[in-house]
Amino acid sequence: MTVLGIETSCDETAAAVVKDGCRLLSNVVASSMDLHTAYGGVVPEIAARAQLETILPVIDQALNTARTDWSDIDAIAVTQGPGLSGSLLIGATTAQTLAITKKKPLYGVNHVEAHVYAAFLTSFGKNKEVRSEDGKEYTNSQFLIPNSQPPAFISNYIFPKKQPRFPLLALIVSGGHTQLVLFKDHFDYKILGKTADDAVGEAFDKVAKILGLPYPGGPSVAKEAAAGNPRAIKLPEAKMSSRYAFSFSGLKTAVLRATQHLAGVPYDFPSSGLPRLLNKAQKADIAASFQAKAVDMLISRLAMAVEEFQPAAVVIAGGVAANQELRSRADKQLKLPFFYPDIKLCTDNAAMIATLGYYKIKSGQHAADPYTLEIDPALSM
Ligand code: KG4
Ligand code: ZN
Repeated sequence: MTVLGIETSCDETAAAVVKDGCRLLSNVVASSMDLHTAYGGVVPEIAARAQLETILPVIDQALNTARTDWSDIDAIAVTQGPGLSGSLLIGATTAQTLAITKKKPLYGVNHVEAHVYAAFLTSFGKNKEVRSEDGKEYTNSQFLIPNSQPPAFISNYIFPKKQPRFPLLALIVSGGHTQLVLFKDHFDYKILGKTADDAVGEAFDKVAKILGLPYPGGPSVAKEAAAGNPRAIKLPEAKMSSRYAFSFSGLKTAVLRATQHLAGVPYDFPSSGLPRLLNKAQKADIAASFQAKAVDMLISRLAMAVEEFQPAAVVIAGGVAANQELRSRADKQLKLPFFYPDIKLCTDNAAMIATLGYYKIKSGQHAADPYTLEIDPALSM
């Protein structure tokens, strides 16, 4: 069973082909990130316009790289939500049109749930070359899409040796979501806790802004933190009413206050003026202290849930799962089989969408009506 996945929930335009819910045949991601850098965050209209321009070449390249054509594709899976409405519409409308014209069953999937399914991919297809329209063979990185990062060679992925087993505890940490979910089986899950305010990735992005580091903030803060002292600045942790709830908005404000204090300015001083008042060492210390606290908050809940539910496996997924500090703390503190998707599959991609689509089909769920499928920007798990 071969599924084409399509993902356009934020600033990426992605398509991927996955066989049998575990074998990655292609994974193409074009990002409009460069176009948003000047604004310090994603501009929805710019993202959707870029998606409109790249979606068809991205799908073509995903099919080409996988050496599949439409006759090999058994179904199409597309992100239905949550995400930016303009962006979701581009992917959904494209998928609906293809489902109708190519006569393929269509499955709408939840983007947040799909992040966990990146951990179910265990191997790659044999093809390293891309077949282009002119029939010549190109390597992936030679066959570029305007405004896209050169896609990585399909063979450059690190996969887990086997799939995670159930009961599975999933920590989903991204720019839009922070939640701890216990899966008894596919589609049989319970949300143990989620963030009461900001997502952890959002906090990384905001702290990067305070420090004047480039967007996206997660990798920038992590890089800056490497040279800093994680104990330099004491940061508070909000008391939560429920055991597994998260909160990152107070932490972000505490970082702002600590930065203003270090810079010797009052609390009404605008954050945009702060970066030029800080030296390199101060920035590194703030980044390291913030990262340590944010990771602490995630690991403490994860450790409690591991203790209470004794899962067979733990998956850490979503953009923030790319964070090395989080990975090493989890590995050190918790003795369990941990599953991290490859870094390229942690951030938004369509391989995870295709994989979740496959399990939907396998579990007997009905295909969507391609004429009436609707996006849901606020879709929750
Ligand atoms: O999953 P994702 O690509 O998009 C959403 O669905 O939100 O996650 C993007 C988020 C951004 O907030 C980004 O700053 C964060 O993941 N991120 C990281 C790292 N790489 C990406 N956060 C911390 N450390 C990283 N290395
Ligand atoms: Zn995501």
